Amino acid sequence: MKTLKDTKVQEEQKVQEMLKVDPSHIMQVGLGFWASKTLLTAVKLELFTKLAFRPLTAKEIKYEICLNERGLYDFLDSLVALGFLQRSGIKSSAVYFNSADTALFLDKNKLSYIGGILEMANNRLYPFWNFLEEGLRTGTPQNEIRSGRMTLFEEIYTDIDKTREFVNAMGGVQTGNFVKFSREFDFSGYHTLCDIGGAGALLSVHVSTHNPHLKCISFDLPAVAPIALENISKMGLAANINVQSGDFFTEPFPKSDVITMGNVLHDWGITDKKLLISKAYEALPEGGSLVVIENIIDDERRENAFGLMMSLNMLIETPAGFDFTASDFNSWAVEAGFSKTYLMPLTGPSSAVVAVK
Ligand SMILES: C[S@@+](CC[C@H](N)C(=O)[O-])C[C@H]1O[C@@H](n2cnc3c(N)ncnc32)[C@H](O)[C@@H]1O
Repeated sequence: MKTLKDTKVQEEQKVQEMLKVDPSHIMQVGLGFWASKTLLTAVKLELFTKLAFRPLTAKEIKYEICLNERGLYDFLDSLVALGFLQRSGIKSSAVYFNSADTALFLDKNKLSYIGGILEMANNRLYPFWNFLEEGLRTGTPQNEIRSGRMTLFEEIYTDIDKTREFVNAMGGVQTGNFVKFSREFDFSGYHTLCDIGGAGALLSVHVSTHNPHLKCISFDLPAVAPIALENISKMGLAANINVQSGDFFTEPFPKSDVITMGNVLHDWGITDKKLLISKAYEALPEGGSLVVIENIIDDERRENAFGLMMSLNMLIETPAGFDFTASDFNSWAVEAGFSKTYLMPLTGPSSAVVAVK
């Protein structure tokens, strides 16, 4: 029979167990949109770009970006507490300036600006993710397509400003990967590269800069060609990179020693993924490589939270797209005829999976 003492000991054990777990992670993620929207709004208001010229007082910021008095200090000091701004003084005596990372990455006038993806996150993804539940229940996309409009690319490419925002957003996400890939992949035996779905030609720009012996083609829909040409000419690489416009489903891929696809396969369902991999196989010589740069999910599907949520983003954005593991890719590549595949970790949650013909 249990004594009062036994019960007390058991209760004490329960309390000790409860103390070991902590609700702060739940709260941090659950209310994560507070921090997210604070940063996205600062990017939209170009606060970091303004502060890159000179430090400003709250009053100056209020006038520069047309803010109301109410919320002003809370907004700016939240950015301080989140580590995106620095400050000397407090409230009316405060002077605000950029932290080292926002000065480098969120000043629109620097080449290192990566805010394009955050602008798109604010303008498109944030409102569309409000419909995640509906996407999960119906399996249908929840972006512009929701209101009976066109597919993702058709919709965006009708408007030059949206096209530029989208292309810059994609470039911002991939820049670190492209730099690492262009430095670390062994291009020594290869002479030509074609980047399928090359958007603003950033992969070609980085590969060509670090491997000047290569001739590159950036292949994508006609709507993005002007932006790609602009980027290539800005970098003085017109002699090494061609822009080719076309539809990758209906036209053969240009024959090349290396074929790259950055964040392309995840846009499509399984049949289209396999079709694109087969078309790459057809266009490569023996020994040629297909390089796919994405947020490759770990084979156990337990760790790469960003890759898994990118796949949810594909549910929101596309009719059939999804992200995948290296082992998924290996099975599709082997089915297409490739002799082997391997994984090359890039930055953060991203990797390249390489299939060799
Ligand atoms: C998600 S973006 C990736 C862009 C870039 N590779 C990167 O890694 O940032 C997919 C690209 O595929 C292109 N694309 C979509 N459908 C296409 C098609 N049918 N033919 C050619 N390009 C297409 C889009 O224009 C877009 O640039």
